[in-house]
Amino acid sequence: MADKLNIAIYPGSFDPLTNGHLDIISRASKLFDEVIVGISQSSSSKNYLFSDDERLKLAKKCTKKLINVKPIVFDGLLVDYAVKNNVNVIIRGLRAFSDFESEFQMALMNRKLNTDITTIFLMPHEKYTHISSSIVKEVFSLKGDISDYVSDEVLEALNQKYEKK
Ligand code: PNS
Repeated sequence: MADKLNIAIYPGSFDPLTNGHLDIISRASKLFDEVIVGISQSSSSKNYLFSDDERLKLAKKCTKKLINVKPIVFDGLLVDYAVKNNVNVIIRGLRAFSDFESEFQMALMNRKLNTDITTIFLMPHEKYTHISSSIVKEVFSLKGDISDYVSDEVLEALNQKYEKK
């Protein structure tokens, strides 16, 4: 098994990527040979503020210093992408107990779909446990300060997005 790479995927909407996400990515990059940041493709049922390409570009900019981190956009079932790309671990962040129920459902469904792929939960730094992309967008849209919670690149992208609205 020594020559087998441990490749993990960290999937999500990342609309947009927050410092909480970056904290998880950084922790995962120390644990695995490669970490794929799997950005879920938009669909008619999922309406994102940022396009697939914008979310991908932001993820690439924000993770450029982490050499074993590769952001991509995926569609279809996460486990199908994982199998095709030799991924054996799914990473999800757990902020608070309230995350647990939906994460538990997702992890067990993914395990039912493919028993060889294991979900591992990582906890972000406690300074990020109360934030999400949604809350960051809401506070920003109402002109609140979110500079502790997103990178300069994301802040700039949010400024541009809301200027156009
Ligand atoms: O950031 P989010 O919205 O919590 O991420 C959810 C995401 C993208 C990880 C989840 O919806 C997903 O994995 N979608 C891909 C389709 C899929 O495999 N669905 C079954 C999951 S049990």
